This record gives sequence, structure tokens and C-alpha cells, in this order.
Amino acid sequence: MATGKGLIGMVDWTKIRNDFPALERTINGRPVVYLDSACMALKPRQVLNAMNEYYEQYPACGGRSIHRFGEEASNAYTAARGKFAKFLNAANEEECIWTRNATESLNIVASSVKLQEGSKIITTSLEHHSGSLPFVERARRDNLVIEIVKAQSDGTFDLEQWKEAIDGNTSLVSIVHSSNVTGTIAPMKEIVEIAHDRGALVMCDDAQYAPHHPLDVQEIDVDFSAISVHKMCGPTGMGVLYGKLEHLESMNMCFYGGDTVSDVRYENGKILPEYLPPPEKFEAGLQNYAGAIGAGAAAEYLQAIGMHEIEKHERSLLEVVLKRLSDMEHVNILGTDDINIKTGLVTFHVDTVPSAHDVATFLNKELNVMVRSGWHCVGPFHYQMGIDPKKGTVRASFYLYNNRADVDTFLSGMEALIEASK
Ligand SMILES: Cc1ncc(COP(=O)(O)O)c(C=O)c1O
Repeated sequence: MATGKGLIGMVDWTKIRNDFPALERTINGRPVVYLDSACMALKPRQVLNAMNEYYEQYPACGGRSIHRFGEEASNAYTAARGKFAKFLNAANEEECIWTRNATESLNIVASSVKLQEGSKIITTSLEHHSGSLPFVERARRDNLVIEIVKAQSDGTFDLEQWKEAIDGNTSLVSIVHSSNVTGTIAPMKEIVEIAHDRGALVMCDDAQYAPHHPLDVQEIDVDFSAISVHKMCGPTGMGVLYGKLEHLESMNMCFYGGDTVSDVRYENGKILPEYLPPPEKFEAGLQNYAGAIGAGAAAEYLQAIGMHEIEKHERSLLEVVLKRLSDMEHVNILGTDDINIKTGLVTFHVDTVPSAHDVATFLNKELNVMVRSGWHCVGPFHYQMGIDPKKGTVRASFYLYNNRADVDTFLSGMEALIEASK
């Protein structure tokens, strides 16, 4: 069990590691070195137990059935939303909508937020496809203007770029808080301030930021945030859309049906629905109760350790990785090396190895080091950097359960690969 020592800066990271059953595995007699958390985080026992408890003890529908199991499911489901709202410091629980993933959260906003006719949507060349495409398509659907702010080659943005791009005709800005390729963190509070001054809403893609840094949606004053629960030690198939209540209330619905209505009358041959406010307005049909309970448990688990502590731990690993990797011949790292504006990941390509998949295959086969290879659903930035997406890049990402031994194994694998590829 993880201790809650995070608040006083004395987390026992070895104990934390023991919370994750997948790390107990050995493959071909060697331990597992899992460095793909930016794609999918491992799950601690606390999350698995909370979900198992639901399936074993009260596997019923929350919200409809008034029997004992139903009541327990409803209570756990509601409590989970409360835990998540606390994690984000949302003003109201109703501002947290359960979704299937961050992509769905982004799509809900893109398709349903009301935007001025003829207005401009801004996004960037660094977005994950899930952060750009829903807005590109919304602009196409409604004949809106779309403008792409080009990230600088180190993955950062200059505030002047935002001051220039966001004008009085801009209705919405969709921007990634922390990039899943460069790891760079955008100055979100400042960007939100510029946008609000000019009357624009901000949709923040927090898929990579929320699992690794303290996130306070009220402090940043962001209008919407998309979160990927499976990247923060929670179950797969779960995401969260945070939205300020006033925006969620004014948005159109995307799905209609059971659980979205307070009344449905039948009068004069017509069916007349009265819809519920958020969050029910966006949660049609029977929900993923186990998933929501797991999401709440994940939020509680991370918060008990302390998000500042997690951020510090990852940066201490990242510092070593960046230093040694940047000294390696033929390795080209993408993104800034300033760890103070970077999430715990490193993305690179190797001149002497034909493709990123070759690097990932070598590390996996020789050392059980699991990294990600490909274009990471960020085609535009790869093209911008002149990297053939077919060659792709390698991404090693770190989380609270990684340790110095993981880092050393990864780096020794890289050294061996480069030596062999010469
Ligand atoms: C920055 C970013 N945005 C959005 C997504 C999409 O998240 P999900 O898989 O939860 O839809 C990802 C996933 O890798 C991501 O890294």
C-alpha cells in the first residue's frame, strides 16, 4: 500500500512500485522495464481492488435501481465523481463528465460547443490528432476559419505567437497542455488569460499533463479540459471532460436517450422530452460504473502520494536520461531539454537505425524495455521537423513506478544498440 507521505516530501518509491502487479512479472528471466506510460499507465492494486469490489459486491446499475446493490453502485459512482472533481479542483462535481477517453472529451466539445458564425478556431502543429482533428472538422462543418499556430522547433510556444493569433474574432483555442512528443508544457494560465481578454474559450488537452503534474482548473481558469484516465493509473475505456458549468449548460447534447431526461411526455401524438442538466445531459445510457469507480480510486491514489512529489520524481529520472542520451552519438532528441517545462518523457530518433520500430524491437527483445515507436498520433509536428513519419520516433516515458535501475537498463540498451548499428 502506498503511503500518503507525499505531503511532507518523503515518498517511499520502492513501496509505490510494489503497488503495481505488472511489475512483478519477469520475462525470459528478466524484470520488466515499462517506459510506455505516456500511452498507457500501469494499474495499482488500489484501483484494481476498487473495481473488483464493484464487480464482486454490488455489480448493479447506479441511478436507476432502488435496491441495495443499486444504491451501493449509485453511491460509489457519485463518490468517484467527487474524488475526480477534487483531483482537478473543479468548483462543482457536475463539471466532471465521464467519457470513454480524452478523444471523446475533445470530440464532445468540438461538436457541441456553440461558436459564433464565421468565427475562428485556433489549434497548433503540436497537437495530438485527437486535439486538432475534431476542431478541423468542426470548422469544415460550420464554415469557420481554422488557424494553426506553429510550435517552435523545441516544442515551446512564444506568448507573442498567441497574442498575434488570438483576435476578437476567435471563438475557441484548442491546445495541448503537455505534448506527448516533446513533453513540453505550454504556459496555459497565460494563454487562457490572452484568450479570455479577447473573448475566446480555451479547450485544454490535459491527457499528458493531468497524470504527471498538479492540475488546478480553477487556478488556470480554463474552460474545458480533456483527461485520459487510462494514462493516470485508471482503467481503460475511461476519460473525463471537465467544463465550466455555464458552458456545459449552454452546449448542445451529443447523445440522447435513457438517463438524460427528467420527463418524457406523450401528448397529442408527440414525444416531449425534458432534459437533465450536466453531467447527466452528457452521460446517456447505462454507464461504465466500474470504470468510474476505478477512475475515482486512481485520482485518490495519485493525490495521496502527491502530484508535486510525482512531478519531482519523474524529473529526477528525466534529468539523467536527457543528460546521457544527448551525449550519445547519432541520437537526436526532440523538444526542449529544460526539465522545468517538461513532462517525464523523451522522444528521439537514431540516425544509424532505419526506423523507430527497430529501436523499440531491439530494446524489447534484448532487455524487456518497453518504449513506444511511431508518430504518436502527432503527424504534423513530425512533418514540421522533417522526420519521415514512416521512420518515426522513439518515446520513453516515465511515471511514479519507474526507478533509476529502469533508466540505467534503458540507457545501456541504447548504448549497445548504437554500438551495434555503426
Ligand atoms: C496529448 C494527447 N492527447 C490526446 C490523447 C488521446 O487520449 P485517449 O487515448 O484517452 O483518447 C493522447 C493519447 O496518447 C495524448 O497523448
